[in-house]
Amino acid sequence: MTPYIKEQLEIFISNLVQAAKAMLLYSPEHRVTSGHAASALGSMNLILAAEDTLKIIRIGGELFVSGIPLEKNPHVERLNQQMSEYAIGHISLMRGAGSADILLLMRIVAGKESSKLKSTPHLIFGAVELDDARTAPGEVSQPIPSYSAIPGELMARVASDFESCTAREHFDLQAVMALVAGFITSFRGEANPLLALVPLREMDEYTFTHSLDVCILNIAQGMSLGFEGQLLHDIGIAAMLHDVGKQFVPPEVLNKPGELTDDEWLEMRRHTVHGAHYLLNTPGMPRIAVMSAFEHHMKYDMTGYPSVPKGWQTNLCSQITMVSDCFDALRTRRVYKDSMDFEKAAGIMLKIAGTGLNPALTLNFIKVLRKMGEQ
Ligand SMILES: [Fe+2]
Ligand SMILES: [Fe+2]
Repeated sequence: MTPYIKEQLEIFISNLVQAAKAMLLYSPEHRVTSGHAASALGSMNLILAAEDTLKIIRIGGELFVSGIPLEKNPHVERLNQQMSEYAIGHISLMRGAGSADILLLMRIVAGKESSKLKSTPHLIFGAVELDDARTAPGEVSQPIPSYSAIPGELMARVASDFESCTAREHFDLQAVMALVAGFITSFRGEANPLLALVPLREMDEYTFTHSLDVCILNIAQGMSLGFEGQLLHDIGIAAMLHDVGKQFVPPEVLNKPGELTDDEWLEMRRHTVHGAHYLLNTPGMPRIAVMSAFEHHMKYDMTGYPSVPKGWQTNLCSQITMVSDCFDALRTRRVYKDSMDFEKAAGIMLKIAGTGLNPALTLNFIKVLRKMGEQ
């Protein structure tokens, strides 16, 4: 989100809420109401001239646009509260939206619309359905669907592509993008994207297979949260590259078959900073991929690493990646640990939801996986 869009978004939300409040006192035609409505329309048009869609997503009681939490103020809070009231997970305003759409939003913010919301051609309401996802650890009983073999030849080709396209000397962003685009296309056509999860692999392939898995899990999460187009694509890229900094960790540390010493841990932890630096210097790299490489080990309560100044807020994409990363790490516990079934992994994730992981994303993730497992 550019500073200009951010500013217009603030103006949009503030005028929308003020127009809705005015509507409670005056008619929609009154100059106070119509003045704010016109300003909201003006800002919306400016945003939609720059972007195809303006999507406001509500996750865990917070509003996000392009993966970035909206700064809290009374207007944002009011919109947030009304989205919760109407059980709206996300609002998408598409280019072509007009004053009738603004009026509908005003009626929602004013609490005057009936509870049965209807989308219009340019204003779509979506549900994220987090409410009934409160699953106790014991209740999660669906196993991960069994792996349907990706032909070995294809796998080998993809593996070597990934290795060469992320190698320090000739990083090929286009190749990674094509890989992710391929995943998204095949998920759209496939009943169950989880079938594409790679089986447990030998250690030397761990980072590659882990990156593929995290990519698949991120896309599954992103789709369930209503992300589309470029953002969904970028969330996949971010997952594919979140551990790219591991190529800067000495192999004897990376592949050590046992507990790491304190110094080795320090070395290992640097993969976040190395990765972010590396991606930052790659032209065309989505910003959220750089953020995710840097932030994917910062816990929800900010006790992870690397250390950052007080008040740092992690990007939503990094938090999504953290959930996928945690699940895959549990599922494929390596070297001296055994792999884990879904029930056990989900139980551990629920235990650290709220401290290690974003609780709303974790509940949604488990729900999405269960749903896929039931297909
Ligand atoms: Fe990592
Ligand atoms: Fe990872």
